Amino acid sequence: MAKALFLFSLIFLSTRLSCSSPDPPTLAHAELTNYGFPIGLLPSSVQTYALNQTSGEFSVQLGGTCKLTLPPDNYLATYSNRIRGKIEQGRIAELDGIRVWAFFKWWSITGIRSRGDNLVFEVGMASAKFPSKNFDESPECDGQKSAS
Ligand SMILES: *[C@@H]1O[C@H](CO)[C@@H](O)[C@H](O)[C@H]1NC(C)=O
Repeated sequence: MAKALFLFSLIFLSTRLSCSSPDPPTLAHAELTNYGFPIGLLPSSVQTYALNQTSGEFSVQLGGTCKLTLPPDNYLATYSNRIRGKIEQGRIAELDGIRVWAFFKWWSITGIRSRGDNLVFEVGMASAKFPSKNFDESPECDGQKSAS
């Protein structure tokens, strides 16, 4: 009996240890990691999401529009209430709903690629590269109030 208990606690301990990395806040975040992206691309306020496994088309519903500051250079970004796009391994295309303020103008991020330790953000024909580790945590929206 004591032996069984010992074994049990050993198993319990090892499961706990293997789960030491933080759990993704929502299923949508977990899905991001399945496709090779860090969870920090989506704010923590995800309410629902839908994914067509065949086409990769997805739709994420936030609880209202979301303003936040993106690392590492503190870019101001806005997320629409609904984010849409097409996801495949290491690539998000036809993205709609995320905008970033830079060079005195709002830019729509149209695609995101995962390249080794970096994320490449596409803005039309242009792109900018940032280390993925800056997106390890899911950001909170500023002021987190549910606008409609
Ligand atoms: C998923 O995508 C496939 C391929 O584009 C399409 O044929 C199918 O109807 C879609 N399913 C849903 C539920 O939208």
